Amino acid sequence: MQIMILPDSAAIGVWAAGHIMRRLADRRLRVLGVATGSSPLPVYDALALRLPRSGGRNVRADPESDKDARAEASLRSLTAFALDEYVGISPDRPESYHAVIRGEVTEKLGLDPARVHVPDGTAGDLEKACREYEQLIAEAGGVDLQILGIGATGHLGFNEPSSSFSSRTRVKTLAPQTRRDNARFFASEEQVPLHCVTQGLGTIMEASELLLVAYGEHKAPAVARAVEGPLTSMCPASIIQWHQDAVVLLDEAAASQLEHLDYYRHVQEHDLLPDQD
Ligand code: F6R
Repeated sequence: MQIMILPDSAAIGVWAAGHIMRRLADRRLRVLGVATGSSPLPVYDALALRLPRSGGRNVRADPESDKDARAEASLRSLTAFALDEYVGISPDRPESYHAVIRGEVTEKLGLDPARVHVPDGTAGDLEKACREYEQLIAEAGGVDLQILGIGATGHLGFNEPSSSFSSRTRVKTLAPQTRRDNARFFASEEQVPLHCVTQGLGTIMEASELLLVAYGEHKAPAVARAVEGPLTSMCPASIIQWHQDAVVLLDEAAASQLEHLDYYRHVQEHDLLPDQD
């Protein structure tokens, strides 16, 4: 696991966007796993700024422009899979993850909407829809790079505490804490659905690369448990310790409860193969 401590959420976004652009330019990223919520927004914003058509910094005179033009070409054929969706919320509603992905990812990055997939939380047969979602990911060749946030409960996707480490896409019940945390996206806490469809931890772990983003003091306890705590389903995000290629991007506040912070800084300072932009 690589732990990077950066000054703020904007710097996290820039680092992640640079990393993603390099993977796109190298043709190592054909299937992107996308998360919703607040955490990945600086990543999508920074990515959009790298794209010439968005009026970002990447004009052709830029020495990086050839690489970025290659990355942009890859972006046009990129397939994306969202982690989760609420059950029973129409994709037209702004609170739905369909709507969030449409606005923050598909439109912002100019992806082909036909290649962007979000679990169906309104299907008549949810179990079948979950199986089909897994099938779709498999047919796309699996996820190359998965962007992740972390919940206060330690969830990844909506895999709440006690989720099996080998779980697949399925219906889950949201923890009361998660409904409280996500009430900010709804008119009231009562309106936050009780259920969701989420990729399983087993599904997420099959992504070739994980990029977990967390910033702000409120994330510090969950980050400490995920990064330094025991591998336990009571903190589902602790499973990232088991992944062979996971990067954890934190700001100072989210990193503040890490016991071995000085050690991570030391490793970061002396990285022999740093990501170069
Ligand atoms: C969203 C998701 C969740 C969020 C987590 C953190 O697709 O999978 O795991 O990443 O709830 O949410 P924010 O970023 O809003 O704090």
